Amino acid sequence: MRMVDIIIKKRDGGELTTEEIQFLVDGYTDGSIPDYQMSAWAMAVLLKGMTARETGDLTLAMAGSGEQLDLSSLSGIKVDKHSTGGVGDKTTLVVAPLVAAAGIPVAKMSGRGLGYSGGTIDKLESFSGFQVERTREQFLQQVRDIGVSVIGQSGNLTPADKKLYALRDVTGTVDTVPLIASSIMSKKIAAGADAILLDVKVGKGAFMKNLEEAETLAKAMVAIGTQVGRKTVAVISDMNQPLGFAVGNALEVKEAVETLAGRGPKDLTELVLSIGSRMLLLGGLVATVEEGRAKLEDLMATGKAVDKLAEMVEAQGGDKQDVYDLSRLPQAKIIHEVVASEDGYVEAIDAEAVGHASVVLGAGRLTKEMPIDLAVGFVLHKKRGDQVRAGEVLVTVHANDEKLLQSALEELGNAFAISTKIPPEQPLIYKIIE
Ligand code: URA
Repeated sequence: MRMVDIIIKKRDGGELTTEEIQFLVDGYTDGSIPDYQMSAWAMAVLLKGMTARETGDLTLAMAGSGEQLDLSSLSGIKVDKHSTGGVGDKTTLVVAPLVAAAGIPVAKMSGRGLGYSGGTIDKLESFSGFQVERTREQFLQQVRDIGVSVIGQSGNLTPADKKLYALRDVTGTVDTVPLIASSIMSKKIAAGADAILLDVKVGKGAFMKNLEEAETLAKAMVAIGTQVGRKTVAVISDMNQPLGFAVGNALEVKEAVETLAGRGPKDLTELVLSIGSRMLLLGGLVATVEEGRAKLEDLMATGKAVDKLAEMVEAQGGDKQDVYDLSRLPQAKIIHEVVASEDGYVEAIDAEAVGHASVVLGAGRLTKEMPIDLAVGFVLHKKRGDQVRAGEVLVTVHANDEKLLQSALEELGNAFAISTKIPPEQPLIYKIIE
């Protein structure tokens, strides 16, 4: 088999065989296929597409390119959750302890933030001493002991995807459904869960800018999951405005704890209940979504959900008092308020602009090596549809550096669009694909 023939076949719109796909994934992983051939192939895929069968084969080949986690020693149905990423998306911080408190074992690997999308692992490090790197045995033992552990992704998982994703990033070949779907699903499959809940974000602050694209991606991922025997459900949710009020690591942790206690923002609470209840359903713990919601609401109201997060923080080296006294989390030195210049209604809050401004402030990173400032970020006071009067606070900025604050304010610029008319309602959840 020759890589050049595979590139030509795809370039001319052909369908690759399982063996050809295995050959290119093996060759790229072991270095015998060079970057230039792999990038030519990725561009051919972007232009000609892949069938569902090819996408499934690519996913399985990448999932098998490195270590695969075996969660079979944990009892019960293990349900994983994945978000395609967004601004202010702290859902995992809430959902993981919440569904664990209900009785679903959560053994979750999460990523760090890159670009304007935050990452769960960075956020968790707001708890002083919190360990995100654990041995396989520590990770599994913690799930056996307390039902939940969230750690950083192992370096040996899906090396083919790691190389290919880095290559796509610099060759204009990220934006294609078969490659995105296989990239995400290969990691989920290698991470070992029995069932997968996908939160596919759509809108200005997301990868997928319109509903049609998001639905195509969601369907492709659900099809892959089904093909490989992992029950998969996708929720398509809005990312035109940031999720909740807080954007920035420690600020998001505070909001996540408030949400676990049943005092969270309306949109975040709704999303968490919607995702969490479906995870309980996938895990066979409840018979209906409504039953799942009621269970989760009860865990929030009784404080059991917050206690589960505190247990996780303690088990991973942090101090559980940080969960009960949020003033102990990193705090910024400078608090700056941005006020509205006119009366009206918030027509839009550009999630992408808020995300970029948070990176400028130091809350996110542009390269993998960049350090981040856990304390800085934004707390929105108004969301889309809210009435606002001139002089009222729109956003509180938490900063640690005057110069970065000024640059972030410039970046934030026109993120808020104020109109004289009430904007039409925008759904939080557009569709469920199963
Ligand atoms: N996230 C991934 O993990 N892979 C992609 O290709 C896109 C988003």
